[in-house]
Amino acid sequence: MTADYLPNPTGPGCPRAYARQVSSAPAHPHGSRVAARDHCLNMARAVDRPTGAARYGRMFPGLAPLGTDPQLLMRAGVDGGICDATAVLDRLSPGGDDAAEAAGWPFFGQLIAHDITADRSPIMGGVDPEALRNSRAPKLNLEMVYSDGPIGSPYLYDLTDPAKFLLAPDGGDVPRNTQGVALIGDPRNDSHLFALTLHIALLRAHNRIVDLVRESGVPEPDVFDKARVTLTWHYQWIVVHDFLPRLVGAELVDQVLAEGGRWFAPPAGHAYIPLEFADAAFRYGHGQIRHTYRLVEGGPAVPLFPDLVGFGPLAADRRLDLAQVFDLPGRPPAQRAKRLDGRLAASLIGLPEQVTGAVDTAAYRSLAVRDLLRGDTTALPSGEAVARLLTVAPLTADELEQTWPQGTPLWFYILKEAEHRGSGDRLGPVGGRIVAEVLIGLLRADAASYLSLEPDWQPKLPATDAGFGLADLLTLDAGGAGPVRPQ
Ligand code: HEM
Repeated sequence: MTADYLPNPTGPGCPRAYARQVSSAPAHPHGSRVAARDHCLNMARAVDRPTGAARYGRMFPGLAPLGTDPQLLMRAGVDGGICDATAVLDRLSPGGDDAAEAAGWPFFGQLIAHDITADRSPIMGGVDPEALRNSRAPKLNLEMVYSDGPIGSPYLYDLTDPAKFLLAPDGGDVPRNTQGVALIGDPRNDSHLFALTLHIALLRAHNRIVDLVRESGVPEPDVFDKARVTLTWHYQWIVVHDFLPRLVGAELVDQVLAEGGRWFAPPAGHAYIPLEFADAAFRYGHGQIRHTYRLVEGGPAVPLFPDLVGFGPLAADRRLDLAQVFDLPGRPPAQRAKRLDGRLAASLIGLPEQVTGAVDTAAYRSLAVRDLLRGDTTALPSGEAVARLLTVAPLTADELEQTWPQGTPLWFYILKEAEHRGSGDRLGPVGGRIVAEVLIGLLRADAASYLSLEPDWQPKLPATDAGFGLADLLTLDAGGAGPVRPQ
């Protein structure tokens, strides 16, 4: 591998304050001010970075807020409601809720979410949506992996070789403090086994790239930055050429690449995360999570929650073979993601307390309730209104299966659209357009991304004959999924 295709690395980044933002929002109508919206909602455990200055924004500022009675949203999202997958499970044949894509893809999507958005406002805090702060830079820059780099976040790196990440002594877990709290760039990546396993695979890929960069003769002071940019560009390339085509279809990806965003095209350096993305479209992944997973070949199906919840040392008998959730060359096909159908698996309808923190309203344990309430508190428009604006035929009442008084909450609409316009495998025209424009728009607005600096850049890391993809990156440390390609 050569390293001269890389842009000049930037410095360690601007200094940031180290005080964690604690919500000062008023108590919400249902009482609790504890439940912030992070995946890692238990604030006592948070070792995350402080809130930066990034604001959220809107893709469709001209559309009126839908405004739905919160009681109706809660009824839809709780146990036994229309968003509860268990209510229909017995009507399905075995494998009847399998999607086309492998089960690991939504978890990769979850890591993307953690890279670009972290809004820690309380679930019903009455916070003005315009005042919401994003604790992540709106860039696909692997901030949740690198944090502030070896200088700003030294506890993430190996003191004996600071260009590399520190791992647990056996290499199968992240380092943890004496209380078991993960020392990683974003605590949400420790919330369950799948996110943590992907995080570890990225750390190991970086460490392997450090070896490759050194072998290519890069001077030692430049090694970390070359490796960071190499991993980051490969990750960005995977988002555009592997992740997005599976999720929204190659045609839409090509169109947005060629024509730019119609609804989201921030100028360089002025990116933001639209609320339509953070609180509706990119929460599509909640609908792809299964209740149970096989972790190793021939192993039993294990419930995601409570069994695979994180936030503590990863037991040696609880490790995940990535071939069970990604199709890897030479291995049997992986398990599939859950079909998108507007319903969430039991594990998400009853989230464990480690994830939600203490809540005084049982309904806040349901991720469906939280998704629906978020869209309401951030004043999102209805799915039908967005469909009309995009000149797409809105879903019919039959397709929606539920009549909403004024219109359908955008998150639920996008899941039903995926069911009826994307065969349950991918997003439909509304969800797909929002996700494709935002992810590609963020890359275009980031002056350091491969898409800004070298749009025709191609991956350089070892790949299979089928071309480079996520599977190659995840297995890089184990020798890769294929041979090293000639440069
Ligand atoms: C086991 C799997 C997952 C769990 C337990 C989980 C849990 C959560 C929780 C608790 C929140 C905060 C809810 C709130 O109060 O508003 C959240 C937000 C979110 N989730 Fe997930 N999630 C999972 C998977 C995913 C996946 C697969 C995706 C996308 C592919 C995703 C995308 C998001 C996004 C975009 C947000 C909003 C984040 C923000 O703006 O701060 N999540 N999730």
